[in-house]
Amino acid sequence: MDSTGTESTLAKAAARIPRHVAIIMDGNGRWAQERGLPRFAGHKAGVETVRSVVEQCVMLKIEALTLFAFSSENWRRPATEVSLLMDLFMLALNREVKRLKRNNVRLRIIGDHGGFPPKLQAKILEAEQTTSECSGLTLQIAANYGGRWDLTQAARNIARQVAAGQLEPDAITEDTLSGNLSTKGLPDPDLFIRTGGEQRLSNFLLWQSAYAELYLTNVLWPDFTPAVFNRALQDFAGRQRRFGRTTEQVRQHSGNFSDD
Ligand code: IPE
Ligand code: IPE
Ligand code: MG
Repeated sequence: MDSTGTESTLAKAAARIPRHVAIIMDGNGRWAQERGLPRFAGHKAGVETVRSVVEQCVMLKIEALTLFAFSSENWRRPATEVSLLMDLFMLALNREVKRLKRNNVRLRIIGDHGGFPPKLQAKILEAEQTTSECSGLTLQIAANYGGRWDLTQAARNIARQVAAGQLEPDAITEDTLSGNLSTKGLPDPDLFIRTGGEQRLSNFLLWQSAYAELYLTNVLWPDFTPAVFNRALQDFAGRQRRFGRTTEQVRQHSGNFSDD
């Protein structure tokens, strides 16, 4: 890491702003149903929330935001809902990419792109290329993503390197694994938020969230306002992260430990 990177890491540790926030955006369907609207209206409203959360992360100079938009398991939903979600994804990419670029946001879509219709795959590549030089927030949209899929594709990559004689099995470390996941190059999430009231991981960022602070809220995703996000950030700022150490050890180091 260069000196600027080190300074910004230390500044963030002091201000206790997470470097990486990951969010399971849940509760769109219930939000719509509560209003007597079709579930899809909740997904549409959810896109507006994404815009506002991204803006807030840009303002706070958070390094990375990963949003769970569609899981490997969401294909099990009714075909009409899946197809409307694909259309909405395409529409959002079309509409938002210019704005992201203006805000210096680098967009990455993580997940198994191969499962999407070819037109959407092309759009994803184009959107990623358009913003690839942006150096502000990295926005990762997890789509057709599953933590088990991520670990499986990493295992395949590593096995290929071993088979090609480029890597010794005994040289495989935790960093090798991390470096082959779809989130490679980014710090692990510090703050893991789930809206919508459920208390489960739903196969999101399984490896990467090993030491993430969890923030579970009953607020439904379309109601996740900047004030609610601020509450989560404040809650995070008040937590003591020990990474296995004792409270006394952490106090002596002013709470600036990372997990290494
Ligand atoms: C999350 O909202 C969005 C997706 C999974 C695509 P849901 O659609 O799961 O909303 P609820 O949980 O049914 O309310
Ligand atoms: C998790 O939400 C996936 C996304 C938010 C994209 P779900 O609503 O699909 O999760 P489960 O099925 O209730 O665990
Ligand atoms: Mg749900």
